[in-house]
Amino acid sequence: MRNNRPEASILVIFGAGGDLSWRKLIPALFNLHLNNWLPEKFAIIGVDLKPIELEKYLAHLRQGINNFSRSIHADDPDWQNFSAFIHYLSADFKESDTYTTLANQLKAVEQEWGVKANKIFYQATPPSLVKMIIEHLGQSGLLDDRQRNRVVLEKPFGHDLVSAIKLNTVITNQLDESQIFRIDHFLGKETVQNILAFRFANALFEPIWDQRYIDHVQITVAETLGVEHRGEYYDQAGALRDMVQNHLMQLLCMIAMEPPVSFTDNEIRNKKVDVLHAIRPIPEDKLSSFAVRGQYDSGIIQDKAVPSYREEPDIKQDSTTESFAAIKLMIDNWRWQDVPFYLRTGKRMSEDVSEISIQFKPVPHQSFPPTSLEDWQPNRLLIHVQPNEGIQLSFQAKQPGPQMKLGPVNMRFTYQDAFHATIPNPYETLLLDVMQGDATLFMRADQVEAAWTVMDPILQGWESTNPDNFPNYEAGTWGPKAADELLKQDGRHWFIPCCFDRSKK
Ligand code: BG6
Repeated sequence: MRNNRPEASILVIFGAGGDLSWRKLIPALFNLHLNNWLPEKFAIIGVDLKPIELEKYLAHLRQGINNFSRSIHADDPDWQNFSAFIHYLSADFKESDTYTTLANQLKAVEQEWGVKANKIFYQATPPSLVKMIIEHLGQSGLLDDRQRNRVVLEKPFGHDLVSAIKLNTVITNQLDESQIFRIDHFLGKETVQNILAFRFANALFEPIWDQRYIDHVQITVAETLGVEHRGEYYDQAGALRDMVQNHLMQLLCMIAMEPPVSFTDNEIRNKKVDVLHAIRPIPEDKLSSFAVRGQYDSGIIQDKAVPSYREEPDIKQDSTTESFAAIKLMIDNWRWQDVPFYLRTGKRMSEDVSEISIQFKPVPHQSFPPTSLEDWQPNRLLIHVQPNEGIQLSFQAKQPGPQMKLGPVNMRFTYQDAFHATIPNPYETLLLDVMQGDATLFMRADQVEAAWTVMDPILQGWESTNPDNFPNYEAGTWGPKAADELLKQDGRHWFIPCCFDRSKK
């Protein structure tokens, strides 16, 4: 629980000249500064190869804040105060000298402050450099203080189960698990954190949150964006690795986990990992009944023509990488037996929307005549992760008029109406958590590995057979036909997520 500003902290960003720092980390830190959440004693040391004068580097960061900060521009006095925290070290990550210089700088800052500080090493670098940087940090003694020295890692955490285990072994050779903060930025989103509040701070929903009342769950994370400038990475990864293994699996865990005994990091993570362990392995010989892949063709999105996946920069012309994935998972435990969880995500889809839809079972006995039920729909709870963040419950009501006609109506909670506040960027929440040493919203090694265990059979099945129908969905649609079949075989269909417009079925 957050009550106080964190203790003195120094944040070292490896890859300080990169996109992540520019677009996400510095704007998030700036907002924390404006809201008085940064420690009173705070410093940022940006490390990167590029020789650049501090003034120029700061001007670049200020531009990033103006472009990407959630609400407020970097006005002069605020910026002057904030920029005083920032130092830049032009250095090669491969050289041991870099770490000696860094250690001296850290010591100098602490001596000036007269207190011991938390030292947070943020890896905003390509994944190939992570192992080397951590080993150097370890050899320089910069990870020795198990309480105060922490490392933040960005995904991908491996490429499959075997590589994830290897990576975890390398980093846990240098660090205790308690020092490692593996970021899944979805977990920092307000609406995602609110799932826990919704489920466990209300007595109303938990009693019906199981296989007796819930028919199935759908999780959709759709993007209109293509691969943008990330073709090189994305073509190696694909939708399953980029989104499902981490973000969608975490959403599933939040919906499916058992109530925690307390709100401590390991308790929450234990409950989530229990869900991952209970997921039924996908049978190799029935893969197509459980997993569907797709790749976008050219099309029109918001009145603009967009190219096909294979025409994007840095993508192979005959690429078989999926830009869309849909899977069906079953959870073998008392709560979720026989309740399918359908997950889908894709690039260049019809809309930008992330939504969790929980559909309840019909009433056990329908006493209304068929004429009353023409517009009848099952109860549905929608969690709008983004945009139009909120929660909506659909239930049946009598439509006005002399006849008994039933139809769905909605009860809504929107963040906008309830709080009249802008929603913090997930990186604000997560960076503050790291400074406070709270790992609740971060991925533990066993969570990462358990999620890969679920993905591995799909990855292996897909890698062993080339899809001969790619591209198989037009940009600006909801994905390939086969994704509809995935639900149709169970007598269900995908709901069209459309913000709060539930008139469409
Ligand atoms: C990232 C993926 O983790 O999440 C991207 O690598 C994706 O491909 C992004 O676009 C989506 O995050 P958000 O917060 O913009 O929904």
